[in-house]
Amino acid sequence: QLMKVFVTRRIPQEGMKILLQAGTCKVSLWDSDEPVPRAELLKGVAGAHGLLCLLSDRIDAEVLNAAGPNLKVISTMSVGFDHLSLDEVKKRGVRVGYTPDVLTDATAELTVALLLATARRLPEGVEEVKSGGWSTWKPLWLCGYGLSGSTVGVIGLGRIGMAIATRLKPFGVKRLLYSGRVAKPQASEVDGEYVPLDTLLAESDFVVVSCALTPQTQGLCDKAFFTKMKNTGVFINTSRGAVVNQEDLYQALSGGQIAAAGLDVTTPEPLPTDHPLLTLKNCVVLPHIGSATYSTRGVMAELSAHNLLGGLQGSDMPSELTL
Ligand code: GLV
Ligand code: GLV
Repeated sequence: QLMKVFVTRRIPQEGMKILLQAGTCKVSLWDSDEPVPRAELLKGVAGAHGLLCLLSDRIDAEVLNAAGPNLKVISTMSVGFDHLSLDEVKKRGVRVGYTPDVLTDATAELTVALLLATARRLPEGVEEVKSGGWSTWKPLWLCGYGLSGSTVGVIGLGRIGMAIATRLKPFGVKRLLYSGRVAKPQASEVDGEYVPLDTLLAESDFVVVSCALTPQTQGLCDKAFFTKMKNTGVFINTSRGAVVNQEDLYQALSGGQIAAAGLDVTTPEPLPTDHPLLTLKNCVVLPHIGSATYSTRGVMAELSAHNLLGGLQGSDMPSELTL
């Protein structure tokens, strides 16, 4: 008797190959690059033993009920799991796999790229070259902020936060501050100083958000938060959009409360093209591409497939979330 698996999107073939060659499951796939419509998701999971999903799929009681009692495992091809209703999942005894570690380097690289692009105003510069705004070399034109001698504050010094700090230090960062629920022993590797959030905001030239989205971090970056930052401060978020109050960010950016912001994540995703943030030159918005290297996405797909198979067989999953 083959076990039934629903995969909510086309994923890199490395992952599909593992599922198909296992020979233990019957895989049905939402064969598209676009998200599965809710009604199709509810239909697709019916009777499934395993679900392989993405961060764009909201997996809540409705989906779990639609799946029914066969469901043993949910494998999400992401490190974030805020799209899963974990209470509901746990209640039903369903196991969860996710993809930490394998995307740490790619996401940290993207964060550094976004920070430099934002601080040195690269998108504005590219636009000026294309539009004919580049008239000559000008001493006061397109100046930004440098990392050398700066203070960087990382909110959430987890795996990715550490990887970001490790990459930023060689740029000549003078002080590396971090805040979060607890001090991290590994912070000593980057000479990280554990400080209260208010201190981090007041003293950092760059504020980098790399924490998980939880009830505690939802809306953390609001008016009071931006007011505490330096007027020359640069704000970077590569975690989840909902950590930021975007109206407050818009006010802070347009009113000169902070200098610039670089976002790889927004609410909603995609951000509507007429969103006020997109009218601002000092706001750089990327389409959630933190883990988007060919090799990283391939390894994420492989790990998701192995997690799913482990869960189906009732054996070890390479990366199981502790519920
Ligand atoms: C990306 O945001 C992920 O959670 O993998
Ligand atoms: C978050 O999951 C991290 O790896 O920092």
